[in-house]
Amino acid sequence: ISESNQTSEFCYEGESAGCRSPTTSKNLIKGGIVVNAHHQEVADVYIEDGIIVLVQCKIKVGDDVIVIDATRKYVMPGGIDPHTHLGMEFMGSETIDDCFRDQAAALAGGTTMHIDFALPINGILSAGFEAYTKKARMACMDYGLHMAVTKWDEVVSRDMEILVKEKGINSFKFFLAYKGSFMINDELLLKGFKKCKTLGVVPTVHAENGDAVAERQKRIFDLGITGLEGHGLSRLPILEGEATSRAIRLASFVNVPLYVVHVMSIDAMEEIAKAQKSGQEVVGEAVVSGLVLDDYALWDPDFTTAAKYVMSPPIREAGHGKALQAALSIGILKLVGTDHCTFNSAQKALDIDDFRKILNGVNGIEERKHLIWDTMVESGQIFAIDYVRVTSTECARVFNIYPRKGAILAVSDADIIILNPNASFKILSSSHHSRSDINVYKGRKGKGNVEVTIVGGKVVWENGELKVEPDSGRYIEIPPFGHLFSSIGKADVAYLSSLHAPVH
Ligand code: URP
Ligand code: ZN
Ligand code: ZN
Ligand code: ZN
Repeated sequence: ISESNQTSEFCYEGESAGCRSPTTSKNLIKGGIVVNAHHQEVADVYIEDGIIVLVQCKIKVGDDVIVIDATRKYVMPGGIDPHTHLGMEFMGSETIDDCFRDQAAALAGGTTMHIDFALPINGILSAGFEAYTKKARMACMDYGLHMAVTKWDEVVSRDMEILVKEKGINSFKFFLAYKGSFMINDELLLKGFKKCKTLGVVPTVHAENGDAVAERQKRIFDLGITGLEGHGLSRLPILEGEATSRAIRLASFVNVPLYVVHVMSIDAMEEIAKAQKSGQEVVGEAVVSGLVLDDYALWDPDFTTAAKYVMSPPIREAGHGKALQAALSIGILKLVGTDHCTFNSAQKALDIDDFRKILNGVNGIEERKHLIWDTMVESGQIFAIDYVRVTSTECARVFNIYPRKGAILAVSDADIIILNPNASFKILSSSHHSRSDINVYKGRKGKGNVEVTIVGGKVVWENGELKVEPDSGRYIEIPPFGHLFSSIGKADVAYLSSLHAPVH
């Protein structure tokens, strides 16, 4: 594979002689260290027809079972990425990879499910949902959806209800940034929060003060700063902190749980910590770029180098990343996504004279599991069980699909990875599975390698080879009223009864 456009380095099931025929529906993963978020032990995992049937020491099986040896390796639930943008139209362009290719890349990196952001079309949620369903026809891994809300009227309100009750969506995204396109005001945010509360679904926010960002962008541009350093200079941590705090307080006012996507700064993280301390149900999501990268390259005079790093909120100076790692290790940030949204170098260079127009987005769906293992586990900041929690289980819990996903338990879907802690990895744009010619993690290496990925009981990644099948992935309907709502009802009851309590 070269750095240039490479399209077929993996084969579809049955298409090439190199691919083995579909695996039997019985597998035994033998002798590995089985890691769940609550517990780890040496055990075998027996799988039948895509479901885990038994997790136990020394399981005896017949000859019709394929045995996969995992001795001295970790056997873990497949990764779940809570935050992706696959095959998305954004800022007038479309991401370089389609859903299928992004998912194939994910599987090569040990992620077996993702929850993608579907965008409304002209503000219409149902149209956005239908369009996404078409886009994901070829899906090769299971996926769920969040839906964005970008305007408010009776149709939007009714569509939210239909999406929750009939289409399996249990979270909505509100953008407090991207003025002039997705951004909404506080009035709409409040309406959205209230609707989410009645439906028992999770409101998520992209928290940056879009008005202040736009004001600062103009000021910086007018000063003659047109290059990509303007991106970070105009999207300051204080503006992320402000929007995070505002969303948290409005969620508290409405008494609804809140999920803050892509926390990129100490400012935002501290607001989340404060709210959690006071007992509010606020989930902070880290993304791998925010944890492991810094903004140094945004100042690189080479446009392509700097452009790779542009996403919003921006990647910040190294102190933020270190603090976010610490916050992840002590549970202020609960899980790690990617915000995967890839454009190639030509797309990024469409308008090099105005930092405000550069396409926002970085890759990560294939790299997340490796980078988090190396940065967080190998470095000693968290244990293997925490790794499973932050890259898989917590997402399943928050979005109410646990223990079907996010666990190695009898009854769970057999989405499993085998990670060899003694092997190493190196990230190259020449060997990644994206069509893009750039990779923001290019050159990174570390310990821990995902050697096998199993999806629904089928081995799809082994010996560096992908064997994926179009249309093998399923849309996972997600029910409302997940565990984040358990404290909400009580608080409302307490509040209402306090109103009616006799006055002494
Ligand atoms: O830069 C980013 N984050 N692109 C994707 C859209 C979003 O804000 O999540
Ligand atoms: Zn056990
Ligand atoms: Zn966002
Ligand atoms: Zn995003």
